Amino acid sequence: MNNFTIVGLGYVGLTIAISLAQNSNNNIICLDIDNKKISKLKKGIIPIYDKTLEKININNFSNLKYTNKYNKAFKNTNVVFLCVPTPKSPNGSADLTYVWNVCQGIIKNICNDIFLIIKSTVPIGISDEIQNYFDKNSSYKVNVAFIPEFLSQGSCLDNYNNPDRIIIGCQNIKIFNIIKNIYKESFNISKTPIMFTSRKSAEMIKYASNSFLATKISFINEMSTLCEKMDINIEEVTKGMGYDKRIGKNYLKPGIGFGGSCLPKDLESIKFIANQMNVELKIIDSVLKVNEIQSQKLVDLFLCNHSNIQNMKIAILGVTYKANTDDIRCSPALINIDILLQKKANLFIYDPYGLNKLKEIYKDKVKYCTSIDEALKSADVAFIFTDWQDIKKYPIQKYRLLMKKPLIYDGRNCYDINKVKKEQIEYISIGRCKGE
Ligand SMILES: NC(=O)c1ccc[n+]([C@@H]2O[C@H](COP(=O)([O-])OP(=O)(O)OC[C@H]3O[C@@H](n4cnc5c(N)ncnc54)[C@H](O)[C@@H]3O)[C@@H](O)[C@H]2O)c1
Repeated sequence: MNNFTIVGLGYVGLTIAISLAQNSNNNIICLDIDNKKISKLKKGIIPIYDKTLEKININNFSNLKYTNKYNKAFKNTNVVFLCVPTPKSPNGSADLTYVWNVCQGIIKNICNDIFLIIKSTVPIGISDEIQNYFDKNSSYKVNVAFIPEFLSQGSCLDNYNNPDRIIIGCQNIKIFNIIKNIYKESFNISKTPIMFTSRKSAEMIKYASNSFLATKISFINEMSTLCEKMDINIEEVTKGMGYDKRIGKNYLKPGIGFGGSCLPKDLESIKFIANQMNVELKIIDSVLKVNEIQSQKLVDLFLCNHSNIQNMKIAILGVTYKANTDDIRCSPALINIDILLQKKANLFIYDPYGLNKLKEIYKDKVKYCTSIDEALKSADVAFIFTDWQDIKKYPIQKYRLLMKKPLIYDGRNCYDINKVKKEQIEYISIGRCKGE
């Protein structure tokens, strides 16, 4: 029996807490400094949206406890998961303030030896630094491991419960075996490959993995631009490529670029690290450049054809950086909203789960719509930025019925190009010719 404390109840921390509660009878204390989050959780409300958490009733888990107080969070705890943000600093490096704050809180409050499992994505060498910090300052032994998290938002819990691999970066094989056993007893992972490595290698595995995924996205987006010029449908190209097992079909969907709280900041962070080592990461540089262009490509195209948009009604469908999550951090939609607002556009925005967070940023600068119909009614143009199921399923004919003149810029290729052609709708999408 283990006693866990999960520190930081965001997409990663909450998912881990719920997975632990589903798979074991361990005691789990969930700690966050956000009082609003803790009071919601105490009422049984999950404070974030992810499709795979939607049907979870946390009231069913009597072993989950919530607190915002460090002095209540570590009594009897022997395993701590550290899941706080590591956002981008102005110079591109990862901001480790939250991580170090937690380390200080742990030192002051633990009552016995612990295993500290770092799940936050941290720069190479930081887990070793954290180990040194505890070795020098803690009266109890803190064994630090870095176990990178690979879950993908929108399917947080499914991903977490079915990982492709678990990488345990820690000091030696003895600690590895203890942590491996804790994992095997606490999660349902009997068939998952578990790998022992150094903490630094584990940190590098996380950065290299995210860099590679981002590279695939920018690569296919670049190919999609060439396809547009040559009257080729990118979807046929990706399908043909995806059959090749060496390439695989995942992360080959063209769109308006990657966003979210991980890929953009992790690529900036590895660039910063490489720069300190006097290594130029030419591929990463290009991946970021392609992504920047791709993210605003549709709006740029629209503005080329429409110089004065002040009196236009512009519908925006989807603001989250991907479907099935309410996360709008670094969403390409926001870049486009900012450009359109600079041109004094009237924006009518719909998103099934992203609007609350959007309101915190844009306040009354835009109109928030509760339905797709409301956003489209009498609109001059519609932009699709997120491929939510209800947006993908929305009948294409309704654009013609509701809008002043149907003009759609689809950043997610939600519609079959040949079906749209039959509808006499002006439809611009990514990497696709205009239909046969
Ligand atoms: N979101 C993902 O899909 C994902 C996937 C893999 C790795 N990661 C990494 O995991 C880390 C967490 O990401 P996230 O998206 O879950 O973050 P998040 O922003 O959703 O949640 C972090 C939580 O930590 C809390 N927090 C901040 N400082 C704290 C402190 N001192 N003590 C207690 N709680 C504190 C915040 O209030 C917040 O609720 C990041 O380093 C991220 O790069 C995220």
